[in-house]
Amino acid sequence: MNMILLKVFALHLTLLHIGDANKFRVIKPNVIALEVNGNPMKQKTSVVLSCGDQFDNSEIHWRKNQEKIDVKGNRVEVSIEAMLGGNFTCHEESGDVLNHTLVLVSPLDFDKAILLRNDDKEFVTCVARNYSGPFHCSWKWDPIRNGVVVFFSASRNSNMLKCSLDADNAGLTCEDLQCPFSEEVTRINLTLLVRNQYRLEEHQRTFFIHDIIKPGKVDITKAENDAFEWKIPKTWNQPCSFFPLRYEVKVVSHRKECEETSGEGNHSENHYVSETHYKVIGRKSYTFCVRAQDSFTNKVWSDWSQHKVMKQKSRK
Ligand SMILES: *[C@@H]1O[C@H](CO)[C@@H](O)[C@H](O)[C@H]1NC(C)=O
Ligand SMILES: *[C@@H]1O[C@H](CO)[C@@H](O)[C@H](O)[C@H]1NC(C)=O
Ligand SMILES: *[C@@H]1O[C@H](CO)[C@@H](O)[C@H](O)[C@H]1NC(C)=O
Ligand SMILES: *[C@@H]1O[C@H](CO)[C@@H](O)[C@H](O)[C@H]1NC(C)=O
Ligand SMILES: *[C@@H]1O[C@H](CO)[C@@H](O)[C@H](O)[C@H]1NC(C)=O
Repeated sequence: MNMILLKVFALHLTLLHIGDANKFRVIKPNVIALEVNGNPMKQKTSVVLSCGDQFDNSEIHWRKNQEKIDVKGNRVEVSIEAMLGGNFTCHEESGDVLNHTLVLVSPLDFDKAILLRNDDKEFVTCVARNYSGPFHCSWKWDPIRNGVVVFFSASRNSNMLKCSLDADNAGLTCEDLQCPFSEEVTRINLTLLVRNQYRLEEHQRTFFIHDIIKPGKVDITKAENDAFEWKIPKTWNQPCSFFPLRYEVKVVSHRKECEETSGEGNHSENHYVSETHYKVIGRKSYTFCVRAQDSFTNKVWSDWSQHKVMKQKSRK
C-alpha cells in the first residue's frame, strides 16, 4: 500500500470500517463483487487487481471509470469506499487498454432496491404454461434506478438449463430438460444478478415446475342463451401425456370485470367444474367469468376470461 492511499485511509479511519482485502467473488470473466457486511456506506474495502501475468514487468498504469488513478504495475491494490466500485482498466504506456475488471459491491445485509416486489412480495416471478415447454421468469426494474442484468443461470440437480434474456431485459426464458413424464423430484434453482451503477444485488428462486404452472387463458368459444363453452388453453396441449385442468366459473354483475370481484364471493356464484361448459340460470345482465388451474397441483390460477351478457330491461 503506498503512502497516498494510507493518508486517504487515515482520514476515514474514524468513521469507516476497513474490510478485508481480497474478499471477493468472481461473477464472470472481468467482473468481481466485493461482499460487504453491515452498512456498505460506512465501509471501505481494498482489493488487489491484476492486469494479466504476461504484464508482470511492464509499465502498466490504471484508470477507474476512465479517470487516471495513482497506482502502477501489474498487481495493484485499490480501495473501494461505500458502493463506489467501478470499471478498472489497465493501460500500456501508449494509453491503449490491455484489460479491465469491473468491481462491484454486493451489500449482504442491505435492503434490495434495484427490482420491485410483486404482489406476492417476490422480486422474480416464474411461470410455466405447461409441463413440456419453457418456463419464464420476469421482474420489474425500479424506475428511479438504472438496473442492468449482470448474470443469470438456472440449474436442476447441477445440470445447467439453457436460458436466454428477453429483449426488454425484464425476463428470462429457460428450457427445462426434464421429460414431462417423470416425476419432478428436484427443484430448479434460478440465480439473477443485477446491478445499479456498481451496486450488485442477488436474487434467487428455487421451485418445482409444478408449483409455477399457470395455465394460459381459456378461450370462450360459445355463448348462446346463457350456455357457455370454452376450450382448454392453447398452450396446455400435451404431446405425450394428459394433464387435467379444472375450471372456476363465476357470474358477477355486468358492471364489473372478473378481476374486480376476486375474493368477494358474496354476490357471485363460484363453481368448480372439470367439464368445459356451463349454463347460467336466472340472471339478467351479467359477466360470465372462467379460469383454469392444474387439477393435480391446485396451485396457480390462469387469468380470467370473461363474456358480458346484456339483456333488455324486463318487458312490462
Ligand atoms: C484480464 O483480467 C481478468 C480479471 O478481471 C483476468 O481473469 C484475465 O486473465 C485477464 N486477461 C488477460 C489476457 O490476462
Ligand atoms: C469496462 O471497460 C472495458 C474496456 O474499456 C469495456 O470494454 C467495458 O464495456 C466496460 N464495462 C462497463 C460495464 O463499463
Ligand atoms: C442455488 O444456486 C446457488 C448459486 O449457484 C447456490 O449458492 C445455492 O446453494 C443453490 N441452492 C440450491 C437449493 O441448490
Ligand atoms: C407450452 O407453453 C409454451 C409457452 O410457455 C408454448 O410455446 C408451447 O407451445 C406450449 N406447448 C404445447 C405443447 O402447447
Ligand atoms: C361477505 O361475506 C363475508 C363472510 O362470509 C361477510 O362477513 C360480509 O359481511 C359479506 N359482505 C356482504 C356485502 O354481504
